[in-house]
Amino acid sequence: MILGAFDLGNSSAYAGWREARLAGAPAGVADLVVEVQDIAALSAAEEGALRTRLRRCNMAVYAEKPHPGRDDKAALKALAARLGLTSLDANALADDDGITPLSVHRQGARARYIPYTERPITWHTDGYYNVAERSVRALLLHCAGKAASGGANRLLDHEILYILLRDLDSELIRALMAPDAMIIPGNDEEGMQRPATVGSVFSVNADGSLHMRYTARSRNVEWSERAAPAAAEIKRLLDSPSPYRFEHILEPGQGLVSNNPLHTREVFTDDPAMPRLLYRARYHQRIAGT
Ligand SMILES: [Fe+2]
Repeated sequence: MILGAFDLGNSSAYAGWREARLAGAPAGVADLVVEVQDIAALSAAEEGALRTRLRRCNMAVYAEKPHPGRDDKAALKALAARLGLTSLDANALADDDGITPLSVHRQGARARYIPYTERPITWHTDGYYNVAERSVRALLLHCAGKAASGGANRLLDHEILYILLRDLDSELIRALMAPDAMIIPGNDEEGMQRPATVGSVFSVNADGSLHMRYTARSRNVEWSERAAPAAAEIKRLLDSPSPYRFEHILEPGQGLVSNNPLHTREVFTDDPAMPRLLYRARYHQRIAGT
């Protein structure tokens, strides 16, 4: 595997990549948005516009025309296939088609899991608890209904976080790339029992891109002694204002296409008469070529 810019011994590769990454970063959330007619049948120009943003910052937001009565989940799958995503990460609360509908459940099996409440979800990447073979490298969200108030996502390209940390001290990166940087205790995740996992925060994918596993939820993670100061630094950076950190409330017909960057879900208030409904699809692949 070629580490390229992520090789701590290769400062010239890093410097070149860093400069290009910072120069190409979107200036604001509006730069992420691409108007499209139909996610199930993207034009070449629409696909190109999404890919350009993904290449710059690992994320893009599409804004679709209304399609009343359409099967949104099938459309989302068609979009994923267009982006080369086919290996869906299963979870017990997904529907039969592997896509998870996220809405507020006040009772029943889902009610005890945070994604199905109005509560905020702090900074994380999806599937941070997965074993390496099931790493979540791409995350798609489609909004079919928005909350009465709140429910924004904060977003930060994990490659920008890498730069902020490496610029402070490359030893922080070394600690976070160690294979024992963090232990995620075994737990019950959305209805599936999973074992404890141990792994690095930053790793390099086979295609040379950067992968990140992270949660700021301290009761969900045990940091190694060496990685603990780096974890504190990550938290400080995520909580600080930054021109690279975006915040956006998905409108109905909008969605996020991403290589699973750092994100939150802010607190919201649901109107049961017009509930918030997001469809979530997690893939093991990254969006190829971005
Ligand atoms: Fe998430």
